Amino acid sequence: MKTAALIGPVTAWRRRAHSPVVFVPTMGALHEGHAALIRRAKRLATNKSSGGKRGGVVVSIFVNPKQFGPKEDLSKYPRPFAEDLALCKREGVDLLFHPAPAEMYSTDASVAITESSLALGLCGASRPGHFDGVCTVVSMLFNIVRPDIAVFGEKDWQQLAVIRRMVRDLRIPVKIVGHPTEREEDGLALSSRNRLLSPEARRVAPRIYQALLATAMEAEEAQAEAGTATTSVSKVLKRLKQDLTVIPGAEIDYVEIVDEVTLTPLKKLSPGVNARALVAVRFDSVRLIDNLSLTSRR
Ligand code: PAJ
Repeated sequence: MKTAALIGPVTAWRRRAHSPVVFVPTMGALHEGHAALIRRAKRLATNKSSGGKRGGVVVSIFVNPKQFGPKEDLSKYPRPFAEDLALCKREGVDLLFHPAPAEMYSTDASVAITESSLALGLCGASRPGHFDGVCTVVSMLFNIVRPDIAVFGEKDWQQLAVIRRMVRDLRIPVKIVGHPTEREEDGLALSSRNRLLSPEARRVAPRIYQALLATAMEAEEAQAEAGTATTSVSKVLKRLKQDLTVIPGAEIDYVEIVDEVTLTPLKKLSPGVNARALVAVRFDSVRLIDNLSLTSRR
């Protein structure tokens, strides 16, 4: 595996790389969720049509200061670089790009990217500027790595939707692939924040996913009953809120049922509209997010 802290060697590597180059951007503190994205990238990089030649997998580790709010502790973000390096080697990453902030941002940088629709609600409401920081850094990383394909986790559904919109609107020549959320055996979505939970909170946190599953089932039944007609969202949403409210120690940040592409809140579930439930729940200072599709797969 090649590692690079500077842009120059990445550009040189890219010039020699076979297609497709598949990219997984991260902030490090890598866990099984990230590893699953890397393994997906490896599969995507195996281009059967090029006579067995394999494309390359690039991972970036960059704790992006521009996506942290003034009250969010950038300096406390975990940076276990040796472990991350070992995981990338183990998973067969071809190039690991790990720039310092000064390599990424000019000291007088004055251009940024703003997504002004999907980024406003949900996580964006309590984290103003967060998705501007994400869009700006991801577009910069795309310019440096110039991947054919980039893989993002569905765990951060709003981020995935915002990135898809950015790529669409700025005509960035990259294919975005979403990868399903990796979970603990008890259903809790993998996150570096999970280990910050108290033992009691960790014990009850899987109830977030259970509530989402129950909601998906209820939505499916209601839709089956309604046939081609529409089902009101309010009853399903009420039940989901109730299920989350009764989790001991949990405080709801948001609970919404939205169109999964535009992220606009839905009033009705109807055939042809892909609905998704998105939630953010706080246990003391630890904020967990999760989401699930409510579209019947029948
Ligand atoms: P980070 O939180 O490190 O996440 C990197 C990628 O891993 C994201 O695409 C995220 O959705 C995915 N991921 C995290 N947990 C996952 C899980 N349990 N299952 C599946 N995928 C999971 O997201 C960021 O970094 C940053 O905002 C970034 C895009 C790198 C821009 O700075």
